[in-house]
Amino acid sequence: MEMKPVIEVQDLIKRFGSLTAVDHLNLSVGSGEIFGFLGPNGAGKTTTVRILTTLAKPSAGRALVSCHDVVKEPLRAKSGMGVVPQHINVDPDLTVAENLRFHGMLHKMSSSKLKARIDELLEFSGLSERGRELSKNLSGGLKRRLMIARALLHHPNVLFLDEPTVGLDAHTRRRTWELIRRSHELGVTIFLTTHYIEEAEALCHRVGIIHEGSLIALDTPHKLKAHTGKVVVESPTTGKTSFFSSREAAAAFASHQHGEVMIRDSNLEDVFIRLTGQRVSGGGKTKVANSSMHGSKHSQQGAKHTHKSGAH
Ligand SMILES: Nc1ncnc2c1ncn2[C@@H]1O[C@H](COP(=O)(O)OP(=O)(O)OP(=O)(O)O)[C@@H](O)[C@H]1O
Ligand SMILES: [Mg+2]
Repeated sequence: MEMKPVIEVQDLIKRFGSLTAVDHLNLSVGSGEIFGFLGPNGAGKTTTVRILTTLAKPSAGRALVSCHDVVKEPLRAKSGMGVVPQHINVDPDLTVAENLRFHGMLHKMSSSKLKARIDELLEFSGLSERGRELSKNLSGGLKRRLMIARALLHHPNVLFLDEPTVGLDAHTRRRTWELIRRSHELGVTIFLTTHYIEEAEALCHRVGIIHEGSLIALDTPHKLKAHTGKVVVESPTTGKTSFFSSREAAAAFASHQHGEVMIRDSNLEDVFIRLTGQRVSGGGKTKVANSSMHGSKHSQQGAKHTHKSGAH
């Protein structure tokens, strides 16, 4: 029997005046997936998350979370979701434990259950020693951890994380990934947004790439890269990239090139560049040198092509 998707988005549109921030978005996320929504600044990630988490209304289309329509049944949809917003919003003047307690009270958790659950989550997030500390004294990484613990408090079945590691150093980012993985191991479906390529590759089972409000690719990182070309020949001087389906083909091409070239595995940045001619990391506005696909039937791939796999 096929499982119902936890998140289902159908032809979702969000307009702000003449700007279309989310443009006919269709996707579904299955139970137990870690799904990544990857795109540059302004792509429409937060707008989508705000609609899915009932904080904003769509202009058109529909979204269901845990089988509940986010517009028609917002309370039911919300009861099964945990949300970690893009900007830090812990209460700075409450202690770490008080932040959790306050959230539990909003979710009408009984005080006896709440006490045990807070201890459990302080332990889970590595904050046991910091429970009595004022939240404003925590580092950025620890505040993020507190936000994740808070979002898990009421046992949600789906966790939304909007850019959970933005601004964190590499080490702290990795610790946050670990916490996200462990949340997933508890059985929670994860929907996260990011503009970090390596985050999407390291964490996500499937990735949707969003660019100027439109979903331009949707698949596993492995398939997205294979579709673009698994191996890249790059010229360090011109930045020009050529894509190949095998090392042998790449090496044969490289041997005929003048000047220095580098052969490397492709990554999701390459996928994004192939589809848009721009970088994710440059806010999506930085044009890059030509890239071309060699020796593959995919070489005619258009910029708006959406490569989709079936529902998970
Ligand atoms: N309330 C609003 N009113 C008008 N325009 C908005 C509003 N919210 C978002 N936008 C615009 O919608 C587009 C998408 O914004 P959104 O915040 O969803 O992008 P994002 O992918 O989350 O970007 P970032 O990586 O910077 O967080 C942007 O052009 C933004 O300026
Ligand atoms: Mg955002």
